[in-house]
Amino acid sequence: STSALITSIADVEKSARERLPDYAWAYYSRTSADGQTYQDNLEAYRRYRLIPRNLRDVSIRDTSVTVLGTRLDIPVAIGPTAIHRFAHPDAELATAKGAAAMNTGMVLGSFANHSIEEFAEAVPSGIHWFYMLFYKDRRHMKRQLDRAERAGYTAIFLTIDQSFQPFFVDKRIGPRPYPVPLRFPNIFDVEPPHAVGSTEYRDCLAAAVKEPATWEDVEWVRDNTRLPVVLKGVLSAEDARMAVERGVNGILVSNHGGREQDGVPATIDVLPDIIRAVGGKAEVYVDGGVRTGTDVLKALALGARCVFIGRPALWGLAHNGAEGVEQVLQILTDELSLAMARTGMFN
Ligand code: FNR
Repeated sequence: STSALITSIADVEKSARERLPDYAWAYYSRTSADGQTYQDNLEAYRRYRLIPRNLRDVSIRDTSVTVLGTRLDIPVAIGPTAIHRFAHPDAELATAKGAAAMNTGMVLGSFANHSIEEFAEAVPSGIHWFYMLFYKDRRHMKRQLDRAERAGYTAIFLTIDQSFQPFFVDKRIGPRPYPVPLRFPNIFDVEPPHAVGSTEYRDCLAAAVKEPATWEDVEWVRDNTRLPVVLKGVLSAEDARMAVERGVNGILVSNHGGREQDGVPATIDVLPDIIRAVGGKAEVYVDGGVRTGTDVLKALALGARCVFIGRPALWGLAHNGAEGVEQVLQILTDELSLAMARTGMFN
């Protein structure tokens, strides 16, 4: 059975490695340059120590948290990652079912096989957030913002550290197109008549996205949706302050899981500075390298409201579809709850 001998995220990762075809494993595990930042994300958590408070009554431990007004049962949500179709035929829908089973939120990636509406309708009980790219055509952005709002999404995520160059030209992955059917209905209203990954498709994508985006684009989004806006990819206190000045509601401290600029700091190391800079004027979350419940507790103890996971959800999806995603979240929750009991730290 697929759930035998799986007791940790590391076990799920191993199972995913065995199940995923090489191209998919390569895409999911890719890091920037030589992976300094990816490694540092993991190692940084190990450098922090928990100081337990004992003799407290820990019989009731509450793992729930409120994110932008929505209550999540657990302080672990699923961040935007591209192309879940590599891990499972039901792609993002299966991931969303896993998240909904644990009553936590999920960000629908723009590089998803399912449209804004399909995704929301398939998992009506889910907590849905939408990650929108910056486009040159603002009418297109406005349409996407309105669609997300109408479909019941409760936040817009804007990623500020993504460059499309590595996505287009990843020499380690080899020739495209991919051997599974891909479509990205949230990027184009009318899909280009080219295979995803082909040079022609990449040209269409490059023509549509606005790169680089600037603060002015963030302001435009802020002014053009009623939904809360989360800025993902903040690593400096100064950018966090600028985000707050522009009315951004949430800041996701992230280095893209070490997939973009290498040599930038581990997220957990810059979290305290950013929380200080924000001064309670926005919610602050963190992602990158969360692999255990004690990692989650460390992030919360350092002031994060909630953590996001990227690869672990994809590993769960590859391991056992929606149930595998649920299992990943359950493992982290069980470990977190135990760590809360043993350290006397809880909400
Ligand atoms: C990502 N991530 C990401 N982020 C984003 O804003 N837009 C995107 O399209 C993607 N795509 C993507 C694909 C894959 C395969 C991975 C693994 C990641 C980054 C993601 O949201 C998150 O920041 C990191 O994955 C967090 O680090 P961990 O949990 O993977 O260590």
